[in-house]
Order: sequence, then C-alpha cells, then structure tokens
Amino acid sequence: MGAFIFFILFLVFTFQGSIIKVNCANYQATGSCGTGPHINYPFQIKGQQTQYEAIHGFELLCKDNITTIHFPSYGDLVVKSISYDSKKIDLLDPRNCSHGVFLNLDLSNTPFQYYYFLKNYSYLNCSTNLSPRFIEVPCLSGSTYHVYTVDPALNVPSSCEIVKTVAIPFEYSAYVSDNSLGLRLTWDLPESEDSKTLNQTRDSHKARYIVLGFSICVFLLATLISIKIHGSTRNCHHKEGQLLQSMGDF
Ligand SMILES: *[C@@H]1O[C@H](CO)[C@@H](O)[C@H](O)[C@H]1NC(C)=O
Ligand SMILES: *[C@@H]1O[C@H](CO)[C@@H](O)[C@H](O)[C@H]1NC(C)=O
Ligand SMILES: *[C@@H]1O[C@H](CO)[C@@H](O)[C@H](O)[C@H]1NC(C)=O
Ligand SMILES: *[C@@H]1O[C@H](CO)[C@@H](O)[C@H](O)[C@H]1NC(C)=O
Ligand SMILES: *[C@@H]1O[C@H](CO)[C@@H](O)[C@H](O)[C@H]1NC(C)=O
Repeated sequence: MGAFIFFILFLVFTFQGSIIKVNCANYQATGSCGTGPHINYPFQIKGQQTQYEAIHGFELLCKDNITTIHFPSYGDLVVKSISYDSKKIDLLDPRNCSHGVFLNLDLSNTPFQYYYFLKNYSYLNCSTNLSPRFIEVPCLSGSTYHVYTVDPALNVPSSCEIVKTVAIPFEYSAYVSDNSLGLRLTWDLPESEDSKTLNQTRDSHKARYIVLGFSICVFLLATLISIKIHGSTRNCHHKEGQLLQSMGDF
C-alpha cells in the first residue's frame, strides 16, 4: 500500500513538473549574440529560431557579435542589458551621442518608452556661442554652429533657431556625458500578447487542477480498495475462526 501511495505521489510530481516545464519554456533563454545579454521572450534575434512568433518591435539584430536594436527614426542602438522582470532595456549609442538620440528617437510607434520621467527641452542651433552658463552639446555641434538644450520657456537668442522641442530625460551636462546615460527604455507588450500570456497561465492552472483532482480521486479510490481488501481478509479470518470453532464443538 505504501509503495502504491508513493507511486501516485511520484506521478503527481512528474506530471506537475512537466507542466511547469512546458509553461516556462517560453521564457527560458532562447538565444544570445556574442557575449551580449540573454535574449528571452518577448525579444528575439532576427534569424534565430524560437518557440514564439516574432513580436513587432522586439526584433533584435546580431551584427559582428553585437546585439543591436534598430529604430527607423534614429538607426541602430547597442543593447547593453535587458532586465525581464522589471522590463528595462539599457542601450548605448554607438555614435556616443545620447543627446542626438534624444533629439531624433521617435518611440511613438514602438512598444517602448523612456524609463525615466521626461521633461520638455528645446534644442537650439546657434551661429554664435551663448553665454558660458549654457553648455553646448559637443557631439551635435560643429565649428560654425553650436547646439544647446534649454528650457522651452527661455527667450530664444537672435543667433539661434529652435531645432525641436522634445520631451527627454535630461538636458545636456558635461558632467554626465556618457554614451548610455538616459538610454534606458521600458516596454509594454501588445494587447494580443498580454491575453496570450494570460490564457497560458490560465491553461496551466487548469491543467494543474485537473492533475491534482485526478490524483486525489486515484488516491481515494486506492484507499477505499485497500480498506475493502483489508476488511474482506478480516472477514475471512473471522469466518475461518467461526468455522474452526464450530468444528471444535464437534
Ligand atoms: C563571434 O563570436 C564567435 C565565438 O564567440 C566567433 O567564433 C566568431 O568568429 C565571432 N564573429 C565575429 C563576426 O566576430
Ligand atoms: C565612444 O566612446 C568610447 C569610450 O567611451 C570609445 O571607446 C569609442 O571609440 C567612442 N566611439 C565613437 C564612435 O566615438
Ligand atoms: C511637452 O510639450 C508638449 C507640447 O507643448 C506637451 O503636449 C507635452 O505634454 C509636454 N511633455 C512633458 C513631459 O512635459
Ligand atoms: C545646425 O545648423 C547647421 C547649419 O546652420 C546644420 O548644418 C546642422 O545640421 C544644424 N544642427 C542641428 C542639430 O539641427
Ligand atoms: C484568450 O482567450 C480568450 C477567451 O478565452 C480568446 O478570446 C482570446 O482570443 C485568447 N487569446 C489568445 C491570444 O489566444
């Protein structure tokens, strides 16, 4: 009997284990590029096989062992790391000009948003240097023009024209010039993907309950049968005893 219960428990655990495995398969590492981050759902490296369909906007490229993501509004950015739990993707600009990225990157038709709180700034393109309290963005400036990020409320000096006013994580500062600063995005899955994940979770819960219910039924049945067998053997003993006794009476 003990062996039988053990067998049932064993069945339950293996069944549950396989369900969990199937359930997790979608979220396990599905690839990588060079020594870059592990690429899991919802991302996918173009050309690499995965168990899920490519989702628009989450396709990455592997170029010379470097993981990159392409934005039509800007070009390629390097994928430095991805945090799947907190939905963060850290990028860096191969051109070392994050304020150039902020100026041009249009995330409106992508699943991405900046991870940071944004504030509007105006990019000014000036033919002369402004006062030293403004710091020009070196990677956007040339020898004959100077680009600044300023508060949109500022009166625009006559030597400048507004290139664009755009919501960005921060204005330019020489102290925080870095090719990755501010290039942290977060994402939202398309609605169809969300419902797919929900359905999957629901299905796996359903499957788990079915297995559990089935196991309990088998267990109860086994207990009942064993009680019956025990009972009937006891009955047999009892009858045997009666029989012997009645024989002794003779
Ligand atoms: C990419 O990396 C692999 C091994 O990590 C190496 O064999 C291959 O030559 C590399 N390719 C390029 C284009 O650097
Ligand atoms: C970007 O900066 C890194 C160091 O921060 C440097 O190694 C690299 O050559 C720079 N790239 C460009 C295109 O300027
Ligand atoms: C930036 O300005 C635009 C237009 O004035 C406005 O619609 C938007 O809400 C502003 N964004 C932020 C982050 O302040
Ligand atoms: C600033 O103006 C110069 C010429 O006037 C132009 O070549 C340059 O592309 C402009 N820069 C930006 C960021 O608009
Ligand atoms: C999820 O389930 C609902 C109803 O159960 C269905 O309408 C929907 O199409 C499913 N979504 C996916 C992506 O399978």
